[in-house]
Amino acid sequence: MKILVTGGAGFIGGNFVHYWLQNHPEDQLINLDLLTYAGNLETLKTIETLPNYQFVQGDIADRDTVFTLFEREKPDVVVNFAAESHVDRSIKDPESFLRTNVLGTMVLLEASKAYPVKRYHQISTDEVYGDLPLERKDLFFTEQTPLHTSSPYSASKASADLLVQAYHRTYGLPVTISRCSNNYGPYHFPEKLIPLMIIRALNHEKLPIYGKGDNVRDWLHVEDHCRAIEKILKEGKEGEVYNIGGHNERTNLQVVKAILKTLDRPESLISFVTDRLGHDRRYAIDPTKIEQELGWKPRYNFDTGLQQTVAWYLSNKDWWGNILTGEYREYIKETYTV
Ligand code: NAD
Ligand code: DAU
Repeated sequence: MKILVTGGAGFIGGNFVHYWLQNHPEDQLINLDLLTYAGNLETLKTIETLPNYQFVQGDIADRDTVFTLFEREKPDVVVNFAAESHVDRSIKDPESFLRTNVLGTMVLLEASKAYPVKRYHQISTDEVYGDLPLERKDLFFTEQTPLHTSSPYSASKASADLLVQAYHRTYGLPVTISRCSNNYGPYHFPEKLIPLMIIRALNHEKLPIYGKGDNVRDWLHVEDHCRAIEKILKEGKEGEVYNIGGHNERTNLQVVKAILKTLDRPESLISFVTDRLGHDRRYAIDPTKIEQELGWKPRYNFDTGLQQTVAWYLSNKDWWGNILTGEYREYIKETYTV
């Protein structure tokens, strides 16, 4: 099989490329990535010379690039991870989110229609469902929960999902969509909560927590996410949406305190800062469908998974050290005053 992965130099896409090549050595894998600030080929160093792996630098929103690649490679399966993914950046500058997340998805769908694929899989997010009230612990996102977005990022991801479903209904494109909760694990770009806090705590820097730190996220180890996508590609039903999550709800404050404890750093590093605009209060996935229909279950426990992740950042200082320059420094300076 020939699988085209987009955004494979990013956090989840990179983990997926490693996972797929390890578990499916008979497949050909092509990784199409623009290498934005979030793309990093260091993540893929150990596999870059494999004969069944090919990297192509290019923009999913560029029709010529995408059509030329499809004409040449004729992939069997497409998995679209490529996206602008950071909510805070979307609040400052939504345009690139609409271009990549919406237009880019449309271009990939067009190419998948013109050079028929066996499956087009869209990597979506639980953020398309909006948020849940903090005091209603009994409520969860199911696949039937209406789309109700908060940020330009989530609005762009929901728009992409609707396009994917339209290509299924209108053109019969064999699509699936997965909506996963917050991922954590190796190769996570250090602007996101967990890696940001690990690295700042290691450097004895203040840890900026938005608002009161009582917002809740539902954490899943990235490898569990990769196994869920594999299940959907192998056994998922065309036209269906699958929620992915492992019932690991934590407040941001709980997560940050756990990181400080693991690193033996004082809680006095915590600094409460101005809240994110439109900040979603709580995400919580109901994974019943993927568990019952596809037999997927997460393997990682959040507490040990978080400790392993902290250990990964401790032993991979070169990987993140190289990122903490240039554009990243400017972004952190503009975003945080602590
Ligand atoms: P990321 O920001 O770490 O990586 C995105 C990758 O896409 C980068 O390698 C970047 O270079 C590439 N890219 C960006 N624009 C591109 C373009 N126009 N053409 C080609 N490549 C482009 O993102 P991530 O956290 O790995 O998220 C991957 C996907 O998973 C996204 O679609 C995101 O919406 C979704 N998702 C993320 C999470 C999470 O917790 N991180 C949870 C659920 C779903
Ligand atoms: O739920 C899935 C989503 O998870 C994905 O679709 C997104 O691509 C991914 O970035 C992530 O979005 P979040 O906004 O939940 O992740 P982030 O790491 O940016 O923030 C997690 C929580 O931590 C959120 O409530 C905001 C808070 N936060 C974040 C940062 C960066 C802070 O309190 N301080 C910070 O400095």
